[in-house]
Amino acid sequence: MFCPRRNKHRFLFSLGIGIAIYSAIYLRENIVLYFTAHPKSDSCRSFPQYCGPFMEEDAPWQKRDCLSESYFTTKEPNCSRIAEELYFITAPLSREEEEYPLAFIITIHKELELFMRLLRAIYTPQNIYCIHVDTKSSQQYMTIVGQLASCFPNVFLATTREEVTYAGFSRLKADLNCMADLARSSIPWKKVINLCGQDFPVMSNRELVRYLQSKPWNGTNMTPGVKQPSTMMHRTQIQYEEINHSYMAPKGKTYTKGPPPHNLDIYFGTAYYALTRPFVDFVLRSTVAKDLLEWSRDTYSPDEHYWVTLNHLKDVPGSHTKGEWEGNIRAVKWKDQEGTKHKGCKGQYVRDICVFGLADLPWVIAKNSMFANKFERQIFPEAVDCLELWHRQKVLQEADVPIQPEWRLTTSRVSNQTLVEPATVAGR
Ligand SMILES: *[C@@H]1O[C@H](CO)[C@@H](O)[C@H](O)[C@H]1NC(C)=O
Ligand SMILES: *[C@@H]1O[C@H](CO)[C@@H](O)[C@H](O)[C@H]1NC(C)=O
Ligand SMILES: *[C@@H]1O[C@H](CO)[C@@H](O)[C@H](O)[C@H]1NC(C)=O
Ligand SMILES: *[C@@H]1O[C@H](CO)[C@@H](O)[C@H](O)[C@H]1NC(C)=O
Repeated sequence: MFCPRRNKHRFLFSLGIGIAIYSAIYLRENIVLYFTAHPKSDSCRSFPQYCGPFMEEDAPWQKRDCLSESYFTTKEPNCSRIAEELYFITAPLSREEEEYPLAFIITIHKELELFMRLLRAIYTPQNIYCIHVDTKSSQQYMTIVGQLASCFPNVFLATTREEVTYAGFSRLKADLNCMADLARSSIPWKKVINLCGQDFPVMSNRELVRYLQSKPWNGTNMTPGVKQPSTMMHRTQIQYEEINHSYMAPKGKTYTKGPPPHNLDIYFGTAYYALTRPFVDFVLRSTVAKDLLEWSRDTYSPDEHYWVTLNHLKDVPGSHTKGEWEGNIRAVKWKDQEGTKHKGCKGQYVRDICVFGLADLPWVIAKNSMFANKFERQIFPEAVDCLELWHRQKVLQEADVPIQPEWRLTTSRVSNQTLVEPATVAGR
């Protein structure tokens, strides 16, 4: 899975209870400081010069917000202000999008600000969003995410939560928990897309809707991958176990696995997907899917074989059996693809995946994948800043409805009135 965590919480386990309480207080205070460090005021209006190359040339602008998490520190959030003051888009931007609602599964455990930016980038009222918060996350984090969700009728927390282990079964289970919730939803969503907290969209919602209905994806699942290569076979030939909910390790030489159930051919691919609703219903109900799930419990990174294996069965809804790596699902710079698929990471590799820096954005944008991974607000904030501004600008330009002032993340630099509305944009 592409969303590795750093195990900085692990050391807490080994400390005594007194220290744990101290740590809890310390963490809590840190969080409070973190929220209030970004007061919403003129002083936090910045003009990130470095985003200039990604913005329209002849529109002088400045960034409006400094993401006000402070709303979420109180017990009762003021929902009527949240959507507006956090610049959420509150109406469908086109009929085309309205008629093709999407479902999203977002698994998170940290980085509240990045999550809120991700959510507002993909949020639109006709879609539906299931948020899976790791049970390892702090109570405060959980509460804040819950408050944010409670302000939107189409955003909810997964009813069953997992303690997610990197490359473990729990990661797959988290997605399935959300799917069970989504399957019961009355929102007529067409496809479900999974995300982690370090993804950010490149395509707009409208582009996603078009892409997912274009050939060969109309009514078809996207799970890029190939027949399991020999280098990956150990993942399903020996038994693995989750150690301390933090990593996967082989159980030992004698613990081998039997063959997959139902003579299934195991495939290997990305843990990311865009799946049709009938396929999700199939996964939740079919014996084949359930048996594969049980068999996958002690495999390494089962989310990288589960979806792609099922999608290669001819008779399942929306199956796509000959696509191999087809499907522009993620822009990721893997370290071992340096020189072949990309010219190196301008940010920094973490676990062989590039955390994008500002200078990676031209590559990310040119690749025009559905989403890009991965971003870290603490290491390279400019990359998120600029991609976010660029993305919102594109989203609004593509809209068929009049743009409301509070949907803009930028405002005119020449005046400090709330907005100088470029009349041309609304008409497009
Ligand atoms: C798991 O956690 C326990 C308790 O914190 C610790 O004693 C043990 O060494 C850990 N095991 C591994 C394999 O990391
Ligand atoms: C919530 O925000 C609205 C709009 O700013 C304001 O009119 C209202 O008084 C606020 N409600 C509470 C309970 O603070
Ligand atoms: C996608 O499939 C639906 C139902 O089969 C069909 O009505 C629609 O025209 C197709 N869309 C495109 C863009 O091919
Ligand atoms: C911008 O705001 C400041 C302080 O509110 C004010 O003094 C100044 O005249 C404003 N500038 C413009 C161009 O409106």
